Amino acid sequence: RQGPHAPGADQLHDDLLTLGAHTVTITACDATNPTALTDLIHTIPTEHPLTAVIHTTGALDDATLTAMTEKQLRTILASKVDSAVLLDALTREHDLGAFVMFSSAAGLLGSPGQANYAAANTFLDALAAHRHANGLAATSLAWGLWAQASAMTGHLSDQDHARMSRSVIVPMSSERGLEIFDAADRTARPLHFASPLNLAHIPQLPVWSRLATVRPTATTHQSGPALTEQLAGLTPTERHQHVLGLVRRQIGVILGIDNPAVIDATRGFLDQGLDSLTAVELRNRLHTATAIRLPATAVFDHPTPNALTQYLLDQLAPAGTESAPAADRGEPGEEGIRRALATIPLDRLRGAGLMKPLLQLLGLADPSADADASTESDEESIDLMAIDDLVQFALGDES
Ligand SMILES: NC(=O)c1ccc[n+]([C@@H]2O[C@H](COP(=O)([O-])OP(=O)(O)OC[C@H]3O[C@@H](n4cnc5c(N)ncnc54)[C@H](OP(=O)(O)O)[C@@H]3O)[C@@H](O)[C@H]2O)c1
Repeated sequence: RQGPHAPGADQLHDDLLTLGAHTVTITACDATNPTALTDLIHTIPTEHPLTAVIHTTGALDDATLTAMTEKQLRTILASKVDSAVLLDALTREHDLGAFVMFSSAAGLLGSPGQANYAAANTFLDALAAHRHANGLAATSLAWGLWAQASAMTGHLSDQDHARMSRSVIVPMSSERGLEIFDAADRTARPLHFASPLNLAHIPQLPVWSRLATVRPTATTHQSGPALTEQLAGLTPTERHQHVLGLVRRQIGVILGIDNPAVIDATRGFLDQGLDSLTAVELRNRLHTATAIRLPATAVFDHPTPNALTQYLLDQLAPAGTESAPAADRGEPGEEGIRRALATIPLDRLRGAGLMKPLLQLLGLADPSADADASTESDEESIDLMAIDDLVQFALGDES
């Protein structure tokens, strides 16, 4: 949209002439505007016909999915989808040797806070497949992260970079990116995932671990019983300190704090530097460290290290079991079990397939009505499953 006024445009113009281009024209155009784009394409001289389209428009406007506005969705979809659809339609009569779209790994893998951007990029991947199936030039390059900062990525904070360095995607140099660009041009495939990977982090993602036939190892999870054992024999105060230490360590990793003891146990997470994305990471890390399934909202519902620690302790040892004799630890008494059962949300019971047997036990459902209702019940269960459960279910892994 800035055309010749974009930073570096003059230098690019001169560099291209130095490299041997006869004529270089840099023109401003809103690629989502059909009239402007049609007019631009008509300015291309017949003696130098259009032979390649490289679509790189893009924009970001991040928000967690539930907070995302319609405007955020529309703007980001327009910048990628509308412009690509127009270029596809307006260049059908041209004999193109290349129609390259800059997509993103966010579409293939998902990316925290970027549901709009992920959907837009997946559209580009699908458009490439569609063009390819119709015998047209098509390449979608689903880039990971370029190390060189751009207008879209220049705003990333140290915290964002630290979060990314703990992910599967490794930032790539411009040289490496250009090599991949050239390599993709030599293949006949419409979609390329274009990023170096940190294979050590693959087990973090269930879908990836299945693709790479690498399963999360036992050492990546601190099992619930193991933590319960660590807590056995401790006084309530010591138990709190132990789990608080664990919570602080995870926050320390996320915020890059070497001495987690300095993290204020009574101060809100958001006041201490976490944001909505890193709060979700904290929840995921605590799940890995404790094997306790935490709702996505856990860090917001229990917004200080102390409150979250108490919540974790409640999950490990529901109220009513605290005074149980040491020999009975891990086997809460009847009262404890009753109280713990009462805390399980109904959707979790449905998701685990326990709702119907429970209703039958209570005499509130007819056992003979099972067969007809099972399909509907399964569908309902899937609707209500938490994302982790859904992924496990989809992978056929119910362990
Ligand atoms: N950088 C990365 O790590 C990375 C990773 C994955 C994918 N990508 C993709 O690579 C592409 C380039 O990104 P970048 O990082 O280089 O960001 P960038 O510098 O911000 O480039 C995006 C470009 O899109 C242009 N643009 C946006 N909306 C437009 C519209 N309606 N009409 C015409 N131009 C429009 C912008 O032009 P104006 O500034 O003049 O408006 C800007 O030049 C994007 O598609 C992005 O999704 C980048």
